Amino acid sequence: MSRHLSEKPLLEAEAIQKRVAGLAVEIEKKYPCDLLVGVLTGAFIFVADLVRQMNSDLKLAFIKAESYGCSDTSCGEVRFTDIKKLNVKDKRILVIDDILDTGHTLNALTKVMQNCGASSVKSCVLLDKPSRREVAFEADFKGFVIDNVFAVGYGLDYADNYRTLPAIYTLQENEEPL
Ligand code: IMP
Ligand code: MG
Repeated sequence: MSRHLSEKPLLEAEAIQKRVAGLAVEIEKKYPCDLLVGVLTGAFIFVADLVRQMNSDLKLAFIKAESYGCSDTSCGEVRFTDIKKLNVKDKRILVIDDILDTGHTLNALTKVMQNCGASSVKSCVLLDKPSRREVAFEADFKGFVIDNVFAVGYGLDYADNYRTLPAIYTLQENEEPL
C-alpha cells in the first residue's frame, strides 16, 4: 500500500493561523499559567505560532514522548524524556500537543505532571480526533475537531515527512494494482 497527500488541504494555512490566534486569546483569558510544555516533535510549529500570539511573557519547555511497541500512533505505555529536569512543583502547567488521538500521550503526561507536584495541569491541542479515543481524556483547549483521518503538515508527520508544510493535508492510501 502506498500513500499520497490529499489534493486539497484539510485545513488551509490561513484558517490555522486564525484559529491559533483565537486559541491564544482563549488561553490567556481562562488559564493564566506559569509554564507551557510542548510535546516534540509534532507540536513545535503550533507552539511557536501560539506563543507569538500571546501577550504574556511565558516560560516554555519541550519534552519528547516515546510510545513503546507502536508505530504511527501511541498505545498503552508512554514515556517522556527529560521530564525530571522540569521544575513543575506548585506551577500551573499547560501541555501542548499537535493532536489528541487515542488519548494515551496526554493522559500519561498529565498524570506525570500531577505526580511531580504541579498545582494544576491543563492541555491544549491543535487537532482532536474524538472517534479514536481509547482512554477518557478531553483537552481543555482545542483548535479543530476532525474525523478519523491521518493528518500531516504544520508539524504533523508521517515517518518524519511533511512536517514543514504550512497547511494540513490528509494522507490517503493508493490501492496497488494486483
Ligand atoms: P495519542 O497518544 O494516541 O493521543 O497520540 C498522540 C500522538 O500520535 C500525536 O502526538 C502524534 O504524534 C501521533 N498521531 C496521532 N494521530 C496522528 C495523525 O493523524 N497524524 C500525525 N500524527 C498523529
Ligand atoms: Mg506527537
